[in-house]
Amino acid sequence: MAISVLLGAQWGDEGKGRITDALAAHADVVARFNGGDNAGHSVTIGTQVVRLHTIPSGIFRADCLCVIGNGVVLNPRTLLKEMAEVERATGITISPARMKISEAAHIILPGHIALDAAREAGGGGIGTTQRGIGFAYMDKASRTGLRAGSMHDPERFGDAVHDHVVQVNRVLEREYERPPLDADTVAAEYTSAAQQLNAFLANTSLIALDALAANKRILAEGAQGVMLDIDHGTYPFVTSSSATIGGVMTGLGVPPQAIERVVGVAKAFSTRVGGGPMVTELQGDMAMRLRGTGKNPWDEYGSTTGRPRRVGWLDAVALRHAVRMNGISELALTKLDVLSGLETLRVATAYAYRGEKLAFFPQDSEVLALCEPVYEDLPGWIEDVTAVRTFEALPKAAQAYIAQVEALVNTRVTIVSVGPEREQMIQR
Ligand code: GDP
Ligand code: IMO
Ligand code: MG
Repeated sequence: MAISVLLGAQWGDEGKGRITDALAAHADVVARFNGGDNAGHSVTIGTQVVRLHTIPSGIFRADCLCVIGNGVVLNPRTLLKEMAEVERATGITISPARMKISEAAHIILPGHIALDAAREAGGGGIGTTQRGIGFAYMDKASRTGLRAGSMHDPERFGDAVHDHVVQVNRVLEREYERPPLDADTVAAEYTSAAQQLNAFLANTSLIALDALAANKRILAEGAQGVMLDIDHGTYPFVTSSSATIGGVMTGLGVPPQAIERVVGVAKAFSTRVGGGPMVTELQGDMAMRLRGTGKNPWDEYGSTTGRPRRVGWLDAVALRHAVRMNGISELALTKLDVLSGLETLRVATAYAYRGEKLAFFPQDSEVLALCEPVYEDLPGWIEDVTAVRTFEALPKAAQAYIAQVEALVNTRVTIVSVGPEREQMIQR
């Protein structure tokens, strides 16, 4: 029995969708275990760029069963829209034979989204995606949430949604002076969504355990990145789910012994969306150079919100921490092509905090915010690498950059991505 885990090793948007799609060629099941439609995983197939939010990135491999695990929070409305878009763009039919939704996954309700938006607008925000993620997980943790399994009875589900809207309206109006939601309209829409989705419901932990018992291969696809984990990320500038390795066990209902490979996906530089400390953040011309203008589909603008991403040099202190904490056994390094043409590349190898050198990643965001990067400079390369398919054919300086990342984080880079397309990948 074998589970391969794929985790975002930084602050999200490392290219998880693209690497999941590649590894899914050798998987029987691809399962999401955390987050919701705050995720935006882009997969490029030919000339098409498909942005997935809730559907696992194994959907483009006909033999893969896609599982939306219990650790996920599910927005039925956006899921249905996404299913229709994927079907239209690719000709794939997403039937219950192709995709299962855990009955224990919690539902994101319009009230959660309205509260998320109200709080973000009210000045106390951290720059969320405004998908209602935090409020849905709040209801889960306080044991008042609505689980996907309740969609088996669409009428009762609609009634529960109605009650939730009525309850949230009081808070929206009194606390935030916001217009109320229309409970009847929302309830009708969610009843209809339940009718369309209930055939997809299952006990997905059982499905995963049976797959393991039958020697099938499961690929667990992380959403967000480990630095956005609710416990181990840069709290409070984090998401509300477990994006670290522990999330696989709780978010799918599988045993740790089944995990045999943990692939960390890291971008060759750093990006972050939303608020929170980012030690290697760049401003000015170099930031614009790394972000891109938005002309290319891979330029650094959020797949879910379109926000320009904050960019910076690779942070090996954070990456080393991510590797150690999650048992990352190998790295996939993405977007190496974006670094072509830069004279010098910088990598943060330590932090300076109040004049002292820190060699570890501080847990306290207030400490992190005061850290300055200690950089090592490495020579860049001018060659375009997008057509390179072997490690040896990369420019010597690119090979040296990768070797230095490996040395700094004490892990082998087994996959190098040199473009968003399926074949633009070097496997070592
Ligand atoms: P995810 O959330 O981790 O799945 O990452 P996103 O899809 O949000 O962002 C990664 C972006 O980079 C997407 O537009 C990908 O198509 C693109 N991408 C992935 N790998 C590469 C690469 O090696 N080179 C380039 N240029 N783009 C890439
Ligand atoms: P993928 O899976 C990058 C960030 C938001 C915000 C914080 C909390 O595509 O890598 P939330 O809406 O989750 O309550 O927002 O987390 N965030 C992401 N950043 N990639 C993501 O997903 C993210 N999902 C959430 O920007 O800072
Ligand atoms: Mg993304």
